[in-house]
Amino acid sequence: MGRVEGKVALAVGAGGGIGGAGAEGLGREGAAVMCADVDGAAAEATAARIRAAGGKAAAMPLDIRDRAAVDAAVAATVATFGRLDILFESAGIAHRTHFLDLDADTWQRILAVNLTGMFHLGQAAARQMVKQGGGGTIINVTSQLAEVARPDRAAYVASKGGTRSLTQAMAVDLAAHNIRVNAIAPGPALTGLTRASYPDDAARRATEVLIPLGRIGMPEDLVGAVLFLASDDSLWCTGSTVTVDGGYNAI
Ligand SMILES: NC(=O)c1ccc[n+]([C@@H]2O[C@H](COP(=O)([O-])OP(=O)(O)OC[C@H]3O[C@@H](n4cnc5c(N)ncnc54)[C@H](O)[C@@H]3O)[C@@H](O)[C@H]2O)c1
Repeated sequence: MGRVEGKVALAVGAGGGIGGAGAEGLGREGAAVMCADVDGAAAEATAARIRAAGGKAAAMPLDIRDRAAVDAAVAATVATFGRLDILFESAGIAHRTHFLDLDADTWQRILAVNLTGMFHLGQAAARQMVKQGGGGTIINVTSQLAEVARPDRAAYVASKGGTRSLTQAMAVDLAAHNIRVNAIAPGPALTGLTRASYPDDAARRATEVLIPLGRIGMPEDLVGAVLFLASDDSLWCTGSTVTVDGGYNAI
């Protein structure tokens, strides 16, 4: 019996590193997973891996900046698998720009995906969960940069601070419906988002010396937290953030 056996999940950003690994973990533990990503082919590749491992999955392209498309994705999940129990929101984009050079378009682009997209998804999913009754669980991927800043990332850091606060606000408003809303804050992990930051071993080592556990994260390192927050193991958790960062933010 899997940890989320019989549940239905919508995994967004499922074509990416953390989203893909989390979606596969949910599928492995018994959930039917709708994999969605602005990169539809990458979402389909994740769904295909879940099916190849014996799980249940479908895929669709989705741009979370588009509210109508987000509503349609929730409707498609319900049409395909009958209900929605778990939202796993791992879509995100980043930038590298000094604050003095940050243009308004970049600011808007980052906020539109990382923060407003999370609002669209959370509200659409929660409305469905309220309608069907019985509660649900929402897992938002934030970042250790919701807590602290690093150079050249003002829009990203602001968006991630917003996602942490949004997670808490959603948790407060949705608790009466038994919908739990929690966040995962990854530390530096090797994915498509960060690959350019680690062009060679030296660049990677420069970050790894700052991580008490001595290595950069891999997408699979986040799966345990996803399953904890998706399953009944976290029944008394809401509004919280699970930090998974090798100790990076502890020093
Ligand atoms: N990798 C890290 O070091 C790290 C650290 C902290 C937080 N995070 C967060 O983890 C989450 C996942 O990132 P990742 O590292 O797996 O990167 P990734 O680039 O591998 O995955 C992100 C996915 O989001 C998708 N996406 C982008 N814009 C979208 C949109 N408008 N609609 C739908 N999907 C969209 C991308 O196509 C991609 O598949 C992000 O929120 C990121 O900010 C990552």
